[in-house]
Amino acid sequence: MGRRPKLVVSEDAIDRRETGYYSTPQFVAEFLAERLRELRPSLKRILDPCIGRGELTRPFKAAGCHVSGYDIIDMSAVGCDEFERADFLDIAMNRQALPLFGDTNGPRPDAIIANPPYNCHEVNYIRDRKAQLIEHFGKSSALNMYALFVRAIIDFAPSGCLIGLVTHDSFLTATGHQDLREYIIKNCAIRNLHLCPTNLFLDQGADVRTCLLVLEKTGEQRDTVLVSNRPQTIAEFQRILRERQFESCNLSKILLLNPRDGSEFTIGVPNDVRALFDGRRLSDIAPCITGISTGDDKKYIREAESAEFQVPFYKNPASRRFFAAPDGYLCTNFQEIGRKVPNFMIRNKSLILQGGIACSSMGVKFGATIRPENTACGVNPNIIIEHDDKWWLLSFLNSRLCLYLTRGIIIRANMITAGYASRIPTPEFDSATKETLALLGQEGFAAAKGGASVDLIKSRIDDAVETSLGLPREVRELLASFERDPIRLS
Ligand SMILES: C[S@@+](CC[C@H](N)C(=O)[O-])C[C@H]1O[C@@H](n2cnc3c(N)ncnc32)[C@H](O)[C@@H]1O
Repeated sequence: MGRRPKLVVSEDAIDRRETGYYSTPQFVAEFLAERLRELRPSLKRILDPCIGRGELTRPFKAAGCHVSGYDIIDMSAVGCDEFERADFLDIAMNRQALPLFGDTNGPRPDAIIANPPYNCHEVNYIRDRKAQLIEHFGKSSALNMYALFVRAIIDFAPSGCLIGLVTHDSFLTATGHQDLREYIIKNCAIRNLHLCPTNLFLDQGADVRTCLLVLEKTGEQRDTVLVSNRPQTIAEFQRILRERQFESCNLSKILLLNPRDGSEFTIGVPNDVRALFDGRRLSDIAPCITGISTGDDKKYIREAESAEFQVPFYKNPASRRFFAAPDGYLCTNFQEIGRKVPNFMIRNKSLILQGGIACSSMGVKFGATIRPENTACGVNPNIIIEHDDKWWLLSFLNSRLCLYLTRGIIIRANMITAGYASRIPTPEFDSATKETLALLGQEGFAAAKGGASVDLIKSRIDDAVETSLGLPREVRELLASFERDPIRLS
C-alpha cells in the first residue's frame, strides 16, 4: 500500500482506512466470475467473506448462483441470499464451533471470492490479537489484513473449492510473506495470476499494487498457470482481460526456486534474464550490509560538518548515481552512543567505516553511488568493496538490467533492504567488458561529481552489459520500457 491519508472517508461515511473498503471495479468482478464459471460450469454456491455491497457476487447472482456473505458492516449487499454480520477471521478460526450459517452438515461453498480489506499491520485489529492470529494463520499472515484473509480463505475452503481474489500483491515478492507463498503453492493449484495496473483503486484514494489470483484448493498443481504482467493503464488491463491476452506458463517458470530465493512469483520475465538467477549473486562478490539507524536523525545527524558531527553519513542515494555528497554528518562519538542508547542501532560494526558502494533503498528507481572510506552508512544496502572491482560493479548496479532485476523481479513493492540487494544476480563478465564497465564507472563518477549529465555514460553501460550477455533485441526493449516507467510497471 502506498502512502495514504490517515482517514479516507467514502461518500457514505465509511472510513476506508479502518474497514479497508475499496469497491472492486465491475469489469474485474465480471472477469473473475467468467473465469470461475469457465473452470467449473456447475458452480452453485458462492461465498464472499467480506462482501461489502456485493460488487464481486453480483455477476454470479445474475447467473443464478446462490450467494452467501459475511461482513463486519451490513451494507445490504445486492442479491445476497444469506448474510451474516460477522468477522470472517473469527469465523475461520472457530470453524468447528461456528459452521457456515448454522448447519454443521450444511452446504459448503463451491467458490469463494473476495477483495480482502487492505489494512496494514499497524491497525489495532492485528495488534490486539496478534498471538492468536499467528497461531492460526502463521507468522507472515499477521503482517497485514489481506494476508490474513488469503490464508483464512484457503483454510476455510473445502477441498476442490475455487477461489477468486482481488488482492494486494506485496506477498508475491516480500521476504516476510515466503510462508504464505509456500502455503498457497502447497494447498492450491494456481490457475490465474494477473497483475493489475497501479491506479486500479486510485480514484477511491488507494495507491495500491494489486493482483487477481484464481486458485483451486487441491494438493496437486495443474500443468499451466495463465498470467499477465502489470499494464500501465486501466484501459490496457481491460483489453488484456477481455481478449485473454495471457501467457500460459508452467508454475516452475514463474517461481524463483533457487535455494537463495524464497519462492517469489515473477511475471513476464524473459528466459535469458531468469537464467541469471542460477548464477552468481551480489553477496558472492562482497558483503552487502545495512548500517546505522539512529532512531532520531535530527538529534544525531547535522547538515554541516563540525567537531561534534564529523562522520560523513550516507542514508539513501535515491536517484543520485555514481557520485553523491553525504546526506549529513553523524555525531563523532556515534560508537559510544550505540553502546548507550538502545534504539541507536549499529549493525555490522566491524565494516561500518569501510568504503564501497551505497545503493538506494527507497523510491522505485534503483541506483548506486561510491561511498568513500571512513564514512558511515544508514539502513540502505551498502556493498563493502575497496579494490578495483568496485568500478565495474558501480556501472552494473546503475544499469537498466539491474533496475529490472531489483524492481521488476526481486522486490516489486517494498523498500530494497540489504537482504534483497544481496540476492541481485551479478553476471561474470568477460575481462574486456569488465574493463569497459570499470572505465565507464569512473567516467560516471567524474561526471556526476562535476555536476554533468551521466545519461550518455549510462546508455553506454547498458549497451556494454546487454551486448556482453547477448540479450536479444526484445529483451533489451523490455528493459528500456521498464526503465521509462518503473513506477507503474514494478
Ligand atoms: C476491499 S472491500 C471489498 C468490498 C466488496 N466485496 C468488493 O469487492 O468491492 C473489503 C470489505 O471487507 C470488510 N471487512 C473488513 N474487515 C472484515 C472482517 N474482519 N470480516 C469480514 N469483513 C471485513 C469491509 O467492511 C469491506 O466491506
